[in-house]
Amino acid sequence: MSEKGKYIPLNFTELDKETMASNSRKFLDRIKKRRTVRSFSQIDIPEEIIINAVKAAATAPNGANLQPWHFVIIKDIKLKSELRRLSEEKEAEFYSEHAPEEWLNDLKHLGTNEEKPFLEEAPYIIVVFEKKWDVLKDGKKKKLYYTKESVGIATGILITALHNSCLATLTYTPENMLFLNELLNRPKNEKPFLLVIAGLPKEGTRVPDITKKDFDEIAEII
Ligand SMILES: Cc1cc2nc3c(=O)[nH]c(=O)nc-3n(C[C@H](O)[C@H](O)[C@H](O)COP(=O)(O)O)c2cc1C
Repeated sequence: MSEKGKYIPLNFTELDKETMASNSRKFLDRIKKRRTVRSFSQIDIPEEIIINAVKAAATAPNGANLQPWHFVIIKDIKLKSELRRLSEEKEAEFYSEHAPEEWLNDLKHLGTNEEKPFLEEAPYIIVVFEKKWDVLKDGKKKKLYYTKESVGIATGILITALHNSCLATLTYTPENMLFLNELLNRPKNEKPFLLVIAGLPKEGTRVPDITKKDFDEIAEII
């Protein structure tokens, strides 16, 4: 017989169908305004917003509730400068040597290059780590499940929470991110997943003129 843990009543708010549909429309309108920004103002923002967004991310569904993530919130100016220096070093290698032609072509419309001034300009950088396994108190390895899926969902909530607080974000993945373990003093069971840059957009910021696929192209109802 399987053993069940303790259960508690679900904290669930029921709404009438019209309000539900109206909420879904409002959310869609709001999330459609999210755009990746690559140019940030140096104006500071309340730290609480970042902390609450990370707390929101940490509510994500995840494999066996083992919560395979760690978030490093960087606000220290010297650390941001060092992060920029190291990232630009890697990016220069990416753009001039490692990147296949097809990838460079696909990136052309974004106008990105090896320069990453946003790493120093934005007030906050959140480095998301994916825990590949856990380490128990006795030093033994503990298996974790669906770590990539779990951290991906948590990161989606993180970006949505920041957007909901009217902050701009950039999802940033420098070439070969393993240098982040040493820079941020994280153990080897944690793999850098991506960076979320957060702040206010620089005045006059422009974004690539792109579109999203229509519902019919990406989904079906059967
Ligand atoms: C996993 C992932 C990695 C990304 N890495 C970078 C990056 O290294 N540099 C960058 O400028 N944008 C990066 N982006 C942002 C995408 O280019 C951007 O989301 C895409 O062009 C769509 O634009 P939008 O976010 O404004 O809708 C990344 C996005 C994702 C999801």
